[in-house]
Amino acid sequence: MNNLSGKWALVTGASAGLGEQFALQLAEMGASLVLVARRKERLDKLAQSLREQYKVEVVVLAQDLSKHGAPANLFAATEGSGKPITVLINNAGLGVHKTFLDQTSHQLQEQIHVNILALTELTHLFGGAMSQRKEGYILNVASVAAFMPIPGYATYAATKAYVLSLSDAVAHELAEQGVHVSCLCPGATATEFMDVAGHQLQDWQKKFLMASDECVRVGLDGLFAGSRTTVAGWMNKMVTQSLRLLPRRAVVASSAKIMA
Ligand SMILES: NC(=O)c1ccc[n+]([C@@H]2O[C@H](COP(=O)([O-])OP(=O)(O)OC[C@H]3O[C@@H](n4cnc5c(N)ncnc54)[C@H](OP(=O)(O)O)[C@@H]3O)[C@@H](O)[C@H]2O)c1
Repeated sequence: MNNLSGKWALVTGASAGLGEQFALQLAEMGASLVLVARRKERLDKLAQSLREQYKVEVVVLAQDLSKHGAPANLFAATEGSGKPITVLINNAGLGVHKTFLDQTSHQLQEQIHVNILALTELTHLFGGAMSQRKEGYILNVASVAAFMPIPGYATYAATKAYVLSLSDAVAHELAEQGVHVSCLCPGATATEFMDVAGHQLQDWQKKFLMASDECVRVGLDGLFAGSRTTVAGWMNKMVTQSLRLLPRRAVVASSAKIMA
């Protein structure tokens, strides 16, 4: 689906990184946009530039997805106000790079709330509306971390394993109702993610980061082509495939080494 004119797309985490790119590329396809994140000034700035550049309608909804009720607020402000969402991009997410016991209870809960609870509720609410209309696309952003437990990112990786598992099962359930559910698994990508996670990369590691526009293009291509899971980039594809052959303990040991 390359022409989304007349359709609404909702992007969570649109104030930075991959979310900003999702918004740009969907606007390029003609979609009207609902931009969601906490930092309203950034969303307003992006909204203005999308309106000017692509002549699309853009609505900003500043919400904290770690808070109970945020998904229902978004549903009411869109589906409940004459803006049926055709494309939902569940992109907002965060990780914390610390050993499990060193993370505060707040940090653990925030990762679970945003990465799991909000994404699940949004998929449920908008998936339901889409299935009634027999039309819709949901892209859930997981990570290559979904394929491996990662010491140093234990909770984050576990949340992404959940996203991958949920997406696959819901994709199967909704396929016959005209709703396509797809899961994008990026590897390390040049966004603000590592800064937010408190993860300092070495200069040589930065050279391996994927560009955010490329990652998003691959994800949207996968979504509209009906792919259930898209691992972004050939190197990440090789890694996730080879992990299937290793004993789980070896996978954990090598992911710990890489993260260290
Ligand atoms: N970059 C990578 O290396 C990488 C690799 C694999 C997977 N991913 C996944 O890709 C997705 C996008 O991350 P990114 O790399 O683009 O990171 P990013 O640049 O840090 O952007 C994260 C986005 O999520 C939003 N967000 C975080 N907490 C939120 C909350 N409580 N409520 C609402 N919005 C919230 C942020 O907005 P506000 O702060 O304004 O709220 C921001 O727009 C995430 O799901 C991440 O797990 C990233």
